Amino acid sequence: MTSISERFSLEKFARHPFYQEVNRRLVKLTGLRPGQRVVDLGAGTGAVTRLILEELGAGKGSEIIAVEPSDSALEAARRNLANVSEAVVRFVQGGAERLSQLVKRPVDAVLFCNAIHLVREKAKVVQEVRRVLREGGTFSFNTSFYLGAEPPESQQFYRRWLIKALRLLKTHYGLTPTDERTPARERLSAEEYIALLEQNGFRIQHKEIMQVEMDLESFEDISEYQLWIEGILPGIPLETGSAVLKESVRETFKELGLSVSPRNWLLVVASRA
Ligand SMILES: C[S@@+](CC[C@H](N)C(=O)[O-])C[C@H]1O[C@@H](n2cnc3c(N)ncnc32)[C@H](O)[C@@H]1O
Repeated sequence: MTSISERFSLEKFARHPFYQEVNRRLVKLTGLRPGQRVVDLGAGTGAVTRLILEELGAGKGSEIIAVEPSDSALEAARRNLANVSEAVVRFVQGGAERLSQLVKRPVDAVLFCNAIHLVREKAKVVQEVRRVLREGGTFSFNTSFYLGAEPPESQQFYRRWLIKALRLLKTHYGLTPTDERTPARERLSAEEYIALLEQNGFRIQHKEIMQVEMDLESFEDISEYQLWIEGILPGIPLETGSAVLKESVRETFKELGLSVSPRNWLLVVASRA
Protein backbone atom coordinates (compact mmCIF):
# COMPACT_ATOMS: atom_id res chain seq x y z
CA MET A 1 0.00 0.00 0.00
CA THR A 2 1.23 3.52 -0.77
CA SER A 3 1.89 5.65 2.32
CA ILE A 4 0.83 9.30 2.54
CA SER A 5 4.40 10.57 2.03
CA GLU A 6 4.92 8.26 -0.95
CA ARG A 7 1.63 9.38 -2.49
CA PHE A 8 2.59 13.03 -2.05
CA SER A 9 6.29 12.81 -2.93
CA LEU A 10 8.35 15.07 -5.21
CA GLU A 11 9.20 12.27 -7.65
CA LYS A 12 6.82 13.21 -10.46
CA PHE A 13 7.81 16.88 -10.37
CA ALA A 14 11.52 16.02 -10.11
CA ARG A 15 11.39 14.44 -13.58
CA HIS A 16 10.65 17.75 -15.35
CA PRO A 17 13.60 18.74 -17.54
CA PHE A 18 13.85 22.30 -16.14
CA TYR A 19 14.15 20.90 -12.60
CA GLN A 20 16.94 18.59 -13.70
CA GLU A 21 18.56 21.59 -15.37
CA VAL A 22 18.64 23.90 -12.30
CA ASN A 23 20.11 21.06 -10.25
CA ARG A 24 22.57 19.89 -12.91
CA ARG A 25 23.78 23.48 -13.32
CA LEU A 26 24.47 23.74 -9.57
CA VAL A 27 26.29 20.41 -9.55
CA LYS A 28 28.45 21.59 -12.49
CA LEU A 29 29.21 24.93 -10.80
CA THR A 30 30.35 23.08 -7.69
CA GLY A 31 33.30 21.70 -9.70
CA LEU A 32 33.32 18.17 -8.28
CA ARG A 33 36.16 15.80 -9.16
CA PRO A 34 36.32 11.98 -9.17
CA GLY A 35 37.46 10.59 -5.84
CA GLN A 36 35.87 13.31 -3.71
CA ARG A 37 33.55 12.88 -0.71
CA VAL A 38 30.32 14.81 -1.07
CA VAL A 39 27.22 15.31 1.07
CA ASP A 40 23.85 15.55 -0.69
CA LEU A 41 21.93 17.34 2.05
CA GLY A 42 18.12 17.05 1.99
CA ALA A 43 18.58 14.37 -0.66
CA GLY A 44 14.85 13.63 -0.92
CA THR A 45 14.21 10.76 -3.30
CA GLY A 46 17.70 10.94 -4.79
CA ALA A 47 17.30 13.00 -7.98
CA VAL A 48 20.33 15.17 -7.17
CA THR A 49 22.26 12.24 -5.70
CA ARG A 50 22.21 10.72 -9.17
CA LEU A 51 23.44 13.94 -10.79
CA ILE A 52 26.31 14.13 -8.28
CA LEU A 53 27.16 10.51 -9.02
CA GLU A 54 27.31 11.24 -12.76
CA GLU A 55 29.84 13.96 -12.03
CA LEU A 56 31.97 12.09 -9.47
CA GLY A 57 31.92 8.68 -11.07
CA ALA A 58 31.92 5.49 -9.04
CA GLY A 59 35.70 5.15 -9.07
CA LYS A 60 38.07 4.76 -6.16
CA GLY A 61 37.47 7.13 -3.25
CA SER A 62 34.29 8.71 -4.65
CA GLU A 63 31.68 8.79 -1.91
CA ILE A 64 28.27 10.44 -1.60
CA ILE A 65 26.53 10.69 1.73
CA ALA A 66 22.83 11.29 1.11
CA VAL A 67 21.37 12.90 4.23
CA GLU A 68 17.59 13.17 4.50
CA PRO A 69 15.20 13.46 7.47
CA SER A 70 12.15 11.82 5.87
CA ASP A 71 12.00 8.03 6.22
CA SER A 72 9.87 7.51 3.15
CA ALA A 73 11.94 9.83 0.91
CA LEU A 74 15.11 8.05 2.01
CA GLU A 75 13.50 4.70 1.26
CA ALA A 76 12.59 5.92 -2.25
CA ALA A 77 16.16 7.23 -2.73
CA ARG A 78 17.51 3.80 -1.76
CA ARG A 79 15.20 2.18 -4.32
CA ASN A 80 16.08 4.70 -7.03
CA LEU A 81 19.81 4.11 -6.51
CA ALA A 82 19.60 0.39 -5.81
CA ASN A 83 22.02 -0.40 -8.64
CA VAL A 84 24.79 1.73 -7.07
CA SER A 85 27.35 0.17 -4.71
CA GLU A 86 26.94 0.95 -1.00
CA ALA A 87 30.59 1.92 -0.94
CA VAL A 88 29.77 4.84 -3.23
CA VAL A 89 26.41 6.09 -1.94
CA ARG A 90 25.59 5.96 1.76
CA PHE A 91 22.16 6.94 3.08
CA VAL A 92 21.86 8.63 6.45
CA GLN A 93 18.66 9.67 8.13
CA GLY A 94 18.66 13.07 9.82
CA GLY A 95 18.27 16.82 9.46
CA ALA A 96 20.77 19.52 8.49
CA GLU A 97 20.63 20.91 12.04
CA ARG A 98 22.73 17.96 13.31
CA LEU A 99 24.87 17.37 10.23
CA SER A 100 28.16 17.30 12.16
CA GLN A 101 26.86 14.42 14.28
CA LEU A 102 25.91 12.47 11.17
CA VAL A 103 29.05 13.05 9.10
CA LYS A 104 32.28 12.64 11.07
CA ARG A 105 35.11 12.81 8.52
CA PRO A 106 35.61 16.11 6.59
CA VAL A 107 34.04 16.22 3.12
CA ASP A 108 34.98 18.13 -0.05
CA ALA A 109 31.53 19.51 -0.82
CA VAL A 110 28.01 19.85 0.55
CA LEU A 111 25.11 20.40 -1.85
CA PHE A 112 21.76 21.50 -0.44
CA CYS A 113 19.24 21.52 -3.30
CA ASN A 114 15.75 22.93 -3.04
CA ALA A 115 15.65 22.64 0.72
CA ILE A 116 17.43 25.53 2.51
CA HIS A 117 14.15 27.49 2.61
CA LEU A 118 12.60 24.65 4.65
CA VAL A 119 15.04 25.21 7.48
CA ARG A 120 14.07 27.50 10.35
CA GLU A 121 17.51 27.96 11.95
CA LYS A 122 19.45 28.90 8.83
CA ALA A 123 22.56 30.30 10.59
CA LYS A 124 22.87 27.14 12.67
CA VAL A 125 22.64 24.97 9.56
CA VAL A 126 25.26 27.01 7.69
CA GLN A 127 27.57 26.57 10.71
CA GLU A 128 26.92 22.82 10.69
CA VAL A 129 27.79 22.69 6.99
CA ARG A 130 31.03 24.57 7.71
CA ARG A 131 31.89 22.09 10.45
CA VAL A 132 31.80 19.07 8.11
CA LEU A 133 33.71 20.71 5.24
CA ARG A 134 37.46 20.51 4.83
CA GLU A 135 39.24 23.85 4.54
CA GLY A 136 38.51 25.27 1.09
CA GLY A 137 35.59 22.85 0.67
CA THR A 138 32.49 23.94 -1.24
CA PHE A 139 28.95 24.63 -0.10
CA SER A 140 26.36 24.97 -2.89
CA PHE A 141 22.64 25.49 -2.64
CA ASN A 142 19.73 26.42 -4.84
CA THR A 143 16.20 27.52 -4.01
CA SER A 144 13.12 28.84 -5.75
CA PHE A 145 11.67 30.11 -2.46
CA TYR A 146 13.52 33.36 -1.97
CA LEU A 147 12.29 36.96 -2.29
CA GLY A 148 12.29 37.42 -6.04
CA ALA A 149 11.46 33.83 -7.06
CA GLU A 150 8.25 34.99 -8.71
CA PRO A 151 9.14 37.50 -11.46
CA PRO A 152 6.78 40.52 -11.70
CA GLU A 153 5.12 39.10 -14.85
CA SER A 154 4.11 35.96 -12.94
CA GLN A 155 2.56 37.65 -9.94
CA GLN A 156 -0.93 38.00 -11.40
CA PHE A 157 -0.89 34.25 -12.08
CA TYR A 158 0.08 33.34 -8.49
CA ARG A 159 -2.43 35.79 -6.99
CA ARG A 160 -5.27 34.52 -9.14
CA TRP A 161 -4.35 30.87 -8.50
CA LEU A 162 -4.38 31.41 -4.72
CA ILE A 163 -7.69 33.31 -4.75
CA LYS A 164 -9.30 30.57 -6.84
CA ALA A 165 -7.92 27.81 -4.63
CA LEU A 166 -9.19 29.48 -1.45
CA ARG A 167 -12.61 30.06 -3.00
CA LEU A 168 -12.90 26.47 -4.20
CA LEU A 169 -11.78 25.15 -0.83
CA LYS A 170 -14.44 27.21 0.93
CA THR A 171 -17.35 26.61 -1.43
CA HIS A 172 -16.78 22.89 -2.17
CA TYR A 173 -15.28 21.66 1.07
CA GLY A 174 -16.24 24.33 3.66
CA LEU A 175 -12.54 24.59 4.63
CA THR A 176 -10.16 27.48 5.30
CA PRO A 177 -6.38 27.04 5.81
CA THR A 178 -4.87 27.80 9.21
CA ASP A 179 -2.63 30.88 9.43
CA GLU A 180 0.49 28.85 10.28
CA ARG A 181 3.59 30.22 8.58
CA THR A 182 5.86 27.44 7.35
CA PRO A 183 9.59 28.34 7.01
CA ALA A 184 9.21 28.42 3.20
CA ARG A 185 6.87 31.39 3.62
CA GLU A 186 9.47 33.35 5.60
CA ARG A 187 11.68 34.09 2.66
CA LEU A 188 15.14 35.58 2.53
CA SER A 189 16.35 37.73 -0.36
CA ALA A 190 19.38 36.71 -2.42
CA GLU A 191 21.39 39.40 -0.58
CA GLU A 192 20.32 38.02 2.81
CA TYR A 193 21.42 34.52 1.80
CA ILE A 194 24.79 35.91 0.68
CA ALA A 195 25.21 37.81 3.97
CA LEU A 196 24.24 34.69 5.93
CA LEU A 197 27.04 32.72 4.27
CA GLU A 198 29.64 35.49 4.57
CA GLN A 199 28.85 36.00 8.26
CA ASN A 200 29.33 32.30 8.91
CA GLY A 201 32.77 31.71 7.42
CA PHE A 202 32.16 31.36 3.66
CA ARG A 203 33.48 33.20 0.62
CA ILE A 204 31.04 33.49 -2.29
CA GLN A 205 32.40 31.92 -5.48
CA HIS A 206 29.38 32.27 -7.70
CA LYS A 207 25.82 33.52 -7.55
CA GLU A 208 23.29 33.39 -10.35
CA ILE A 209 19.59 33.49 -11.00
CA MET A 210 18.15 31.05 -13.51
CA GLN A 211 14.74 31.74 -14.93
CA VAL A 212 12.77 28.69 -15.99
CA GLU A 213 9.46 28.39 -17.83
CA MET A 214 7.05 26.15 -15.94
CA ASP A 215 4.18 24.57 -17.87
CA LEU A 216 0.77 23.53 -16.54
CA GLU A 217 1.81 19.92 -16.04
CA SER A 218 4.71 20.96 -13.81
CA PHE A 219 2.35 23.04 -11.61
CA GLU A 220 -0.07 20.10 -11.43
CA ASP A 221 2.79 17.81 -10.43
CA ILE A 222 4.14 20.16 -7.75
CA SER A 223 0.57 20.33 -6.42
CA GLU A 224 0.95 16.64 -5.56
CA TYR A 225 3.94 17.34 -3.31
CA GLN A 226 3.29 17.35 0.43
CA LEU A 227 5.51 20.33 1.33
CA TRP A 228 4.08 22.48 -1.47
CA ILE A 229 0.47 21.72 -0.46
CA GLU A 230 1.21 22.35 3.24
CA GLY A 231 3.08 25.56 2.39
CA ILE A 232 0.18 27.06 0.41
CA LEU A 233 -2.78 25.53 2.23
CA PRO A 234 -1.59 24.79 5.79
CA GLY A 235 -3.91 22.59 7.86
CA ILE A 236 -5.81 21.21 4.84
CA PRO A 237 -5.90 17.42 4.27
CA LEU A 238 -3.39 16.62 1.52
CA GLU A 239 -5.82 14.85 -0.81
CA THR A 240 -8.22 17.83 -0.72
CA GLY A 241 -5.45 20.44 -0.93
CA SER A 242 -3.90 18.71 -3.93
CA ALA A 243 -7.22 18.38 -5.80
CA VAL A 244 -8.06 22.05 -5.14
CA LEU A 245 -4.64 23.33 -6.23
CA LYS A 246 -4.73 21.28 -9.41
CA GLU A 247 -8.21 22.32 -10.44
CA SER A 248 -7.57 26.00 -9.69
CA VAL A 249 -4.23 26.08 -11.52
CA ARG A 250 -5.87 24.57 -14.63
CA GLU A 251 -8.55 27.28 -14.54
CA THR A 252 -5.97 30.02 -13.98
CA PHE A 253 -3.84 28.89 -16.94
CA LYS A 254 -6.96 28.81 -19.11
CA GLU A 255 -8.33 32.20 -18.01
CA LEU A 256 -4.99 33.96 -18.49
CA GLY A 257 -4.30 32.12 -21.76
CA LEU A 258 -0.92 30.89 -20.48
CA SER A 259 1.20 28.10 -21.88
CA VAL A 260 3.96 28.63 -19.28
CA SER A 261 4.72 30.81 -16.26
CA PRO A 262 8.28 31.92 -15.39
CA ARG A 263 9.98 31.20 -12.06
CA ASN A 264 13.43 32.11 -10.77
CA TRP A 265 15.92 29.81 -9.08
CA LEU A 266 18.74 31.26 -6.98
CA LEU A 267 22.03 29.32 -7.25
CA VAL A 268 24.92 30.01 -4.85
CA VAL A 269 28.34 28.39 -4.60
CA ALA A 270 30.64 29.31 -1.70
CA SER A 271 33.92 28.04 -0.32
CA ARG A 272 34.88 27.52 3.30
CA ALA A 273 37.07 30.50 4.18
C1 LIG B 1 12.00 19.80 -2.33
S1 LIG B 1 12.85 18.45 -1.61
C2 LIG B 1 14.37 18.46 -2.49
C3 LIG B 1 14.98 17.12 -2.67
C4 LIG B 1 16.27 17.10 -3.50
N1 LIG B 1 17.37 17.77 -2.83
C5 LIG B 1 16.03 17.78 -4.83
O1 LIG B 1 16.54 18.88 -5.06
O2 LIG B 1 15.32 17.20 -5.66
C6 LIG B 1 13.30 19.05 -0.03
C7 LIG B 1 13.88 17.99 0.87
O3 LIG B 1 14.45 18.60 2.03
C8 LIG B 1 14.19 17.79 3.15
N2 LIG B 1 14.31 18.58 4.38
C9 LIG B 1 13.34 19.26 5.04
N3 LIG B 1 13.82 19.81 6.16
C10 LIG B 1 15.14 19.48 6.20
C11 LIG B 1 16.19 19.73 7.13
N4 LIG B 1 15.98 20.44 8.24
N5 LIG B 1 17.40 19.21 6.88
C12 LIG B 1 17.63 18.49 5.74
N6 LIG B 1 16.67 18.22 4.84
C13 LIG B 1 15.45 18.71 5.07
C14 LIG B 1 12.78 17.27 2.88
O4 LIG B 1 12.49 16.11 3.65
C15 LIG B 1 12.82 17.02 1.38
O5 LIG B 1 13.18 15.72 1.07
